[in-house]
Amino acid sequence: MSNIEKLSILGSETIHVGYGIQEHIVETVITTKASSTYVIITDTNMGRTEPFRKLSEKFDSKLKELRPDSRLLQYQVSPGENNKSRETKAAVEDYLLQQGCTRDTVILAVGGGVIGDMIGFVAATFMRGVRYVQVPTTLLAMVDSSVGGKTAIDTPLGKNFVGAFYQPQYVFADVSFLKTLPTRQFINGMAEVVKTAAIWNEDEFTRLENFSKTFLDVVTRENPDIESIKEELVKTVLESIRVKAYVVSSDEKETGLRNLLNFGHTIGHAIEAVVTPEALHGECVSIGMILEAELSRYLGILSPVAVARLSKCLVAYGLPVSIDDKLFLKRVGNKRHYVQLDILLKKMSIDKKNDGSKIRSVLLESIGRCYQLKAHEISKRDLGVVLTDEVLVHPFKSADIKPTNVIIPPGSKSISNRALILASLGKGTVRIKNLLHSDDTKHMLDAVTALGGAEISTEDNGETIVVKGNGGKFVANTEPLYLGNAGTASRFLTSVATLVQSSSSSTSIVLTGNARMQERPIGSLVEALRNNGSEIEFLNKEGSLPLNVKTGNGLKGGRIELAATISSQYVSSILMCAPYAEKEVTLSLVGGKPISVLYIDMTIAMMKAFGIEVTKSTTEEHTYHIPKGTYKNPEEYVIESDASSATYPLAFAALTGTSCTVPNIGSSSLQGDARFAVDVLRPMGCTVEQTATSTTVTGPPVGQLKPLKHVDMEPMTDAFLTASVVAAVAHDGQTSTSITGIANQRVKECDRIAAMVSELAKFGVKANELPDGIEIHGIKIDELITPSIEKRGIKTFDDHRVAMSFSLLAGLAKEPVLIQERSCTGKTWPGWWDTLHSKFNITIDGYELPFDADDSSLLIDKHANGDKSIIVIGMRAAGKSTLSKWMATFLGFKFLDLDDVFEERVNTDIRSFIKEHGWAEFRKQEAAIAKEIFAKNSKGYVISTGGGIVEGEEARDILKDYIKSGGIVLHLHRDLDETVVFLSSDTTRPAYINEIKDVWIRREQWYHECSNYHFYSSHCGNELEFKHLRNSFISYLRTITGLQISPIPRNRSAVVTLTFDDLNNVAEQLEEIATGCEAVELRVDLLKKHAKTFVADQTATLRKYVNLPIIYTIRTESQGGKFPDHELESLEELLLLGIKLGVEYLDIQLNFPNSLIEKILERKAFTRLIISHHDNTEVLKWSNVDWKNKYNQAVSYGADLVKLVGTATSFQDNLDLEVFKSANTLKPLIAINRGEQGKLSRVLNTIYTPVTHDLIPKSATAAAGLLTVNQINKAFAEIGGFTNKKFWVVGSPIEHSRSPNLHNAGYQKLNLPYTFDRFESSNADEVYEKLIKGNKNFGGLSITMPLKLDIMKYADELSEAARLIGAVNTLIPSPTDSTKLFGDNTDWVGITNSFIRYGVPNIENSSVNGLVVGGGGTSRAAVFALHDMGCKKIYMINRTASKIHEIKNSFPKEYNIEILETVEEVEEAEAVSLVVSCVPADKPMDEALLNKLERLLYHGSTQQSGGFTPTLIEATYKPRLTPVMRIAQEKFQWSVIPGVEMLVNQGEKQFQLQTGSTPPYKVIHDAVVAE
Ligand SMILES: NC(=O)c1ccc[n+]([C@@H]2O[C@H](COP(=O)([O-])OP(=O)(O)OC[C@H]3O[C@@H](n4cnc5c(N)ncnc54)[C@H](O)[C@@H]3O)[C@@H](O)[C@H]2O)c1
Ligand SMILES: [Zn+2]
Repeated sequence: MSNIEKLSILGSETIHVGYGIQEHIVETVITTKASSTYVIITDTNMGRTEPFRKLSEKFDSKLKELRPDSRLLQYQVSPGENNKSRETKAAVEDYLLQQGCTRDTVILAVGGGVIGDMIGFVAATFMRGVRYVQVPTTLLAMVDSSVGGKTAIDTPLGKNFVGAFYQPQYVFADVSFLKTLPTRQFINGMAEVVKTAAIWNEDEFTRLENFSKTFLDVVTRENPDIESIKEELVKTVLESIRVKAYVVSSDEKETGLRNLLNFGHTIGHAIEAVVTPEALHGECVSIGMILEAELSRYLGILSPVAVARLSKCLVAYGLPVSIDDKLFLKRVGNKRHYVQLDILLKKMSIDKKNDGSKIRSVLLESIGRCYQLKAHEISKRDLGVVLTDEVLVHPFKSADIKPTNVIIPPGSKSISNRALILASLGKGTVRIKNLLHSDDTKHMLDAVTALGGAEISTEDNGETIVVKGNGGKFVANTEPLYLGNAGTASRFLTSVATLVQSSSSSTSIVLTGNARMQERPIGSLVEALRNNGSEIEFLNKEGSLPLNVKTGNGLKGGRIELAATISSQYVSSILMCAPYAEKEVTLSLVGGKPISVLYIDMTIAMMKAFGIEVTKSTTEEHTYHIPKGTYKNPEEYVIESDASSATYPLAFAALTGTSCTVPNIGSSSLQGDARFAVDVLRPMGCTVEQTATSTTVTGPPVGQLKPLKHVDMEPMTDAFLTASVVAAVAHDGQTSTSITGIANQRVKECDRIAAMVSELAKFGVKANELPDGIEIHGIKIDELITPSIEKRGIKTFDDHRVAMSFSLLAGLAKEPVLIQERSCTGKTWPGWWDTLHSKFNITIDGYELPFDADDSSLLIDKHANGDKSIIVIGMRAAGKSTLSKWMATFLGFKFLDLDDVFEERVNTDIRSFIKEHGWAEFRKQEAAIAKEIFAKNSKGYVISTGGGIVEGEEARDILKDYIKSGGIVLHLHRDLDETVVFLSSDTTRPAYINEIKDVWIRREQWYHECSNYHFYSSHCGNELEFKHLRNSFISYLRTITGLQISPIPRNRSAVVTLTFDDLNNVAEQLEEIATGCEAVELRVDLLKKHAKTFVADQTATLRKYVNLPIIYTIRTESQGGKFPDHELESLEELLLLGIKLGVEYLDIQLNFPNSLIEKILERKAFTRLIISHHDNTEVLKWSNVDWKNKYNQAVSYGADLVKLVGTATSFQDNLDLEVFKSANTLKPLIAINRGEQGKLSRVLNTIYTPVTHDLIPKSATAAAGLLTVNQINKAFAEIGGFTNKKFWVVGSPIEHSRSPNLHNAGYQKLNLPYTFDRFESSNADEVYEKLIKGNKNFGGLSITMPLKLDIMKYADELSEAARLIGAVNTLIPSPTDSTKLFGDNTDWVGITNSFIRYGVPNIENSSVNGLVVGGGGTSRAAVFALHDMGCKKIYMINRTASKIHEIKNSFPKEYNIEILETVEEVEEAEAVSLVVSCVPADKPMDEALLNKLERLLYHGSTQQSGGFTPTLIEATYKPRLTPVMRIAQEKFQWSVIPGVEMLVNQGEKQFQLQTGSTPPYKVIHDAVVAE
């Protein structure tokens, strides 16, 4: 038997830890805990695992052997936190009672914390308490929940609200159970492990830091080999439990010490309460720990290094450390937006660990130690700062600020990097202080350690890095040195690599990095080293990492020439290694003036500090002699603070009239920004005292700073932002401050010059851009304006320097100033806000920008594709160029054709290139160019590729990498027969080697592998269909880029299930079939073929005929469908195809394997998920807890909608279902009963009720009890669901109004019990009195002249359209409060939808202009419509100009309305592509007006600037062809739309508003047109 460690808790040794100790468990329990009945309880996940089965078998046989009279019972519950409920507890208890369990029962709780907590609580109360044993099977349960005797269940109002302290008889932590634990659960458990070490044991924490890499490597593998790390794991569990057992033993009931275990939990729990179940406990605690550590730092208790260390460790274990962690966001989705300050504070106040409304938190003092062994009361103000990313900086109060301050900013990055290399090369031990921890230093430390060059350790809790150097001796190891994206490390280490000696196992070393690193240049350095005799090979791309460096050669030395015009880091790299060359080195920099000489000087000065003195050549320019020798490490090396960072505290002194000293930067500093105090602050009126190593600035009395006429800040460009905010209040009444020499600042984190100009303006400070600088017109401090908080204060552009600069100016304003994105200072000074608060005594508050959860545009920012380039692949003639250009126009991207780039590069056409060099060479070059272009143009491009790009393996990898990096590769395809026809007429391109179909067969799989989206163009028979293709493609594009996420309906809605085996056979009927529905379900499993192209073609057909969201369903046999259950691979492929096709909804089954569901979750992007379960046993009653479990499980998977289908065997089943529905409201639920007796459930279901249609043949597979929309509506009306609403059209004259025809036809078609009549009146009061007041059946009004304005006084609320148009044509009871009236205007929708139905493409981002003719009410709607469509400018013409001036003035400026009064103005106007004619057609048009219109029509058709046939819509609907239409069409070849279309389209919208149902378009159209 393996080793077993026993730990004692509360005085007895009941915790047993080991690996593979099942026999011990079984034997110990049976022998020491006598009982007549043993019950093993687990969850169904665990129940399926091999280790569990073994345990229960062993128990069974051992029991038979030792206690033949006792019995073993087993019970399994559904898994997951949602089941840690009263209901499940009751079910377990009922089971125990039914089995006749008594007081002597022993329960074994085998499982994770959910099982442990709940079964522990069952044991605590069953028969007033029975014995139980914990067998934890998750890491979290082993180290945390199983130890300590806290048991509980959750209630809807909070987690763990009901429970007991009840100790188990034993806790058996058998680490071998973790073999089957899912990776995410494993990682989740590590959060508690790290927590325990962080509060208690620094040594253990250090061990955990070292273990992280191995751990993550193993647990993230496809089949983790847990056995290989069992020793470390057992130790990990053991050490964690040891602490917990000790703490619990001294404070069982959590009154003091035990509180420490809640580190990270105060905030973590609050977050968890919001994002559960999507995020796990450990994940939230991990974020909570960092926030609580930041709180300690903010209060000046914990050092910034310690926070960084904790965060690094958690990240190394794969845990999130911020709510905005990418993976975390993906998991929690929109719930992110509910992680808001006030919500968190509320949750914290009701956390049971806090007494009353006081919030307590554990404060860390250092890693391994808490600040006073207890939890501390925390003010909401301090919490606020930590919990929000926005801050309010309050006015600086001179009384609060100490007159003198000493500040040590974080260490300089360049100096830190150099110091580490020098120390590692040196001999002896050096203690490095104030080191800036960055990616570069981390990778350097790792690499140096891996090569045995130095021993590295830390002191003072990580504040001091101790380097014990071996004097330049390094030995090769076999593992490649991975450097991430650390540029400096890669450059410095390349030279170091040449010094490495071979080992028995290796004669070379490899330096590599991430994808970005592999693009960064290192060519000239390698060339210089190669010329000096080193053997270095580029393993991948010429000129970049990865490199293979041959070891054992040493660095030859002598004269080395280096081109130093690209990077001074090359120079520093060779300089630092040069003392170890065989021959003394003379380094000569060739190729012109080296850049950044200052940095070269810095390296030389630092080499001197480590004992090597470089001399500059007196005879040769840019040439250095480096003596041979060994660096001697000084005892201590204090890294100079970063001089750019130092400008902020110094400027603080300047602005507040106080004094501030930075004690480690002075005149001897080689950092350019060290001159800021002397060159900028002194001439502005500050007193500056600078020694060689320190700088003190004392500001003049507040308000007396002087402007600097001109300062060239070229040597200290990063400090210009600080200078700018000082200059903002430097005022002498005449001079402005000009700063030049800072052109490079335009291409930093943001365009900093533009940023300063825009944000200074918010303080009322005028500034303007200069070609290479900025000019600032300083004002008096009391003239400063406080930037408006409503307008979101100061934007920082995620740029640390912008944020820090404005935090200074903010304190001078009269009111608190809001600064966005506070955490961006983390890049160089994470503790900046803490310094302001705890050192300068400035008051700051957290602030949260209001978030409107319904405003989807905000969501999109964070998650959508953004401006990432889109790559297009597909066969030749699949429409790549055309569709790519549409895409580019729509997204506002640039278009690039890879073939064009290729031809330009090789200077010949592709055909000749292939003739000369062959296909292989072509593919090779093509791949190389693709790689370069994708990387270089990674934002803002649509890149179309050559048809055969997928033929080359290299190119395929490049495409796949692009997908992995989060990009879109779109595969376009269309019918092959069409392609063939098209291609046979084209002779300019190289001929295929084989027939086109063969080519397709060869490539098809590759296209699928290399793309993550797929669009299939359906056949276009005419111009209009072609236009529609464009619209449907753009709508597809919106979906896959996340610009539009299909909203889930709130009202009654229906889905027609298409059970055809080929939609093309019924294409013409699809529109009719979908009538009255809000979505269509494509049953993929019922299609006659499952080939991808076939399925893609089916969706294309569906999209072409039906403009509704698609639900893509593959129903397996076990769930009543036709798809074979066991064909998991093709099931997965087909489901992923659905995502590729951009369907709005994917229906996945709850019984799909976990891994499949996870994969879909990961890939689904903007497709919504319906998670469904069909009960085929046909006996499951809705009152059974299993249904609830199913529902909860689906929710916790992240379903957007849950669909549950049962069977009714009695009418009562439908009533039970209603009860179930009202109790389960976390996510929208579609729930119905199959069977004849289940019809009622279909009538009562609200969202997306599945329906059929008379045109769909009743097949054997169709569920019994299916109804049509009409049947459902009829039944619903008859049982009182719909009431008999009455609608009217009002106005005068209305006897010819077509509205009643339109609406009544729709009601009839859909079986809605409504009526629509005419009510002639020109008096709004009469309308109100007679139709609305007190009328219970009032449904709504359609309003025409002359009442559109008069009726407005009765509308309690107005839509934006109604407000801007200034008229109401639709009046209905408010959807949110039926006692109020809501007024809308749908006239504009009539215009936009008509345009769209006539094929006008989306014009957003293009520069299409519109024209409105006329100046009446319709013109106002037309202006609104054209703006909504995206028109850049809206021109207006009319017979009399005064009316349209009035219209123009009533619309916002951004509408860009221009009035064309004179013929000259008309001639100069830009071409228009959309016209709305709103002048009466019954009399001839005014001559002058007509003349203007004709000119505009003429320009529109000759210039075709929109890329489509310009289109005119007529607002008058009689006669059908008006004179204006005739002129536009016949004389100028415009496309024209008769007014009746506008009438129908506005009516369609009106119908929807009034009834909440989708009207049958064709029916209402016919009703209006057929007279
Ligand atoms: N009592 C306490 O002091 C205490 C402390 C911390 C947490 N908790 C509670 O613990 C619960 C969380 O526990 P958890 O993280 O273990 O979650 P869990 O019990 O839900 O287990 C996680 C998942 O892993 C599965 N699983 C468990 N062991 C497995 C194995 N060996 N192989 C494969 N699958 C396995 C489970 O079925 C479940 O799906 C929460 O309810 C929390 O409140 C209690
Ligand atoms: Zn916990």
